[in-house]
Amino acid sequence: MAATDLERFSNEEKRNLSLGGHVGFDSLPDQLVSKSVTQGFSFNILCVGETGIGKSTLMNTLFNTTFETEEASHYESTVRLRPRTYDLQESNVQLKLTIVDAVGFGDQINKDESYRPIVDYIDTQFENYLQEELKIRRSLFNYHDTRIHVCLYFITPTGHSLKSLDLVTMKKLDSKVNIIPIIAKADTISKSELHKFKIKIMSELVSNGVQIYQFPTDDEAVAEINSVMNAHLPFAVVGSTEEVKVGNKMARARQYPWGVVQVENESHCDFVKLREMLIRVNMEDLREQTHTRHYELYRRCKLEEMGFKDTDPDNQPFSLQETYETKRKEFLCELQRKEEEMRQMFVNKVKETESELKEKERELHEKFEHLKRIHQEEKRKVEEKRRELEEEMNAFNRRKVAVETLQCQSLQATSQQPLKKDKDKKNFFSLPSSCSITSGRYVN
Ligand code: GTP
Ligand code: MG
Repeated sequence: MAATDLERFSNEEKRNLSLGGHVGFDSLPDQLVSKSVTQGFSFNILCVGETGIGKSTLMNTLFNTTFETEEASHYESTVRLRPRTYDLQESNVQLKLTIVDAVGFGDQINKDESYRPIVDYIDTQFENYLQEELKIRRSLFNYHDTRIHVCLYFITPTGHSLKSLDLVTMKKLDSKVNIIPIIAKADTISKSELHKFKIKIMSELVSNGVQIYQFPTDDEAVAEINSVMNAHLPFAVVGSTEEVKVGNKMARARQYPWGVVQVENESHCDFVKLREMLIRVNMEDLREQTHTRHYELYRRCKLEEMGFKDTDPDNQPFSLQETYETKRKEFLCELQRKEEEMRQMFVNKVKETESELKEKERELHEKFEHLKRIHQEEKRKVEEKRRELEEEMNAFNRRKVAVETLQCQSLQATSQQPLKKDKDKKNFFSLPSSCSITSGRYVN
């Protein structure tokens, strides 16, 4: 719709008319109630507090039942979120209640990142809802909404001040969830100390800019009680599922050797105030705030991050279609750029590998040539050696033959007449005409 049309529409005159008789649209609120009751409600509570602070006991006390409880060990390496969903019914109202426990919170030596799994969990639930909303075929009507409606932050009853872990965690969570801080195990702190502790906590929250949930005061019906209750924050609570006889009635309480702390006695603790505010008066407001404030903020940031805006740089309304088209074009350009980049990278890589392979081939070839040269040299040496040995063998054989001939002649001479002895003796010591003595060796 163009801006001028919008202006004309909003400036349009409205006339008050009276009805001639009963029409029936005064039943609209009843129709709404009936529809909501049929549909059922969901409510999701996140419990953040150190191990053993009394989270499960308080949940059991609040809903007057026994939920599954599983004690956490003190040795969790990280904070883990454990959701459990229950179907509860009171009169004809169905409530799908999810209790999410931050298991292992405060148990790590390094607590710097303790808040992160909690923030991530809350964001994931928002993201799931957003994805459902963005679907073409949405089914929000029967969608199980797991967005966290309230975070009960359990403060250790030290009587001193908040721990830095508490401040950091609450600061990280305050824009994402409705935080109700509560002082746990309030029976372990004296009345005067509790009063001072409450003031200290509130002043620390204010000075650190932590926004906690304020019970709404714009609805006349609950404005008074809510503004009174806002002044009681943080609630100091005691949890117990144990029934103790008080007077002639049974009451939920914690019994000690010196007396009994009654959970539902307002002079003992703020449990009743918490239950009143959380369940009986402001449950719907908590659900609404989650949707209109926290989820809206998440959705806006997420869509802006994705490039969606309501107005263009000239502050003119910007249609979703246009944004989509611009984004699509940007995306396609980016895709093309990436594709080209990858192609170039691939070509470079191939070239690099090719030159590496060539270099390797050259090195191998050189090595081969070198080895070949060595081999030829070795072969030549062996050949020479073989020739020398052959020559030596031949010489030896010749000597052998000469010696044998001489031996043979000497044998013949000894078997002839003694008259010829002198002559033969001379012959024996003279060499055959074909032989001579050189350097003490016979040679031909
Ligand atoms: P994990 O789930 O293991 O982290 O513990 P948790 O925070 O759920 O605590 P849980 O409710 O299991 O309570 C731990 C112990 O504290 C139990 O022995 C409870 O009886 C006791 N406890 C719970 N609430 C209170 C309370 O208000 N005052 C006192 N004094 N003790 C409490
Ligand atoms: Mg527990």
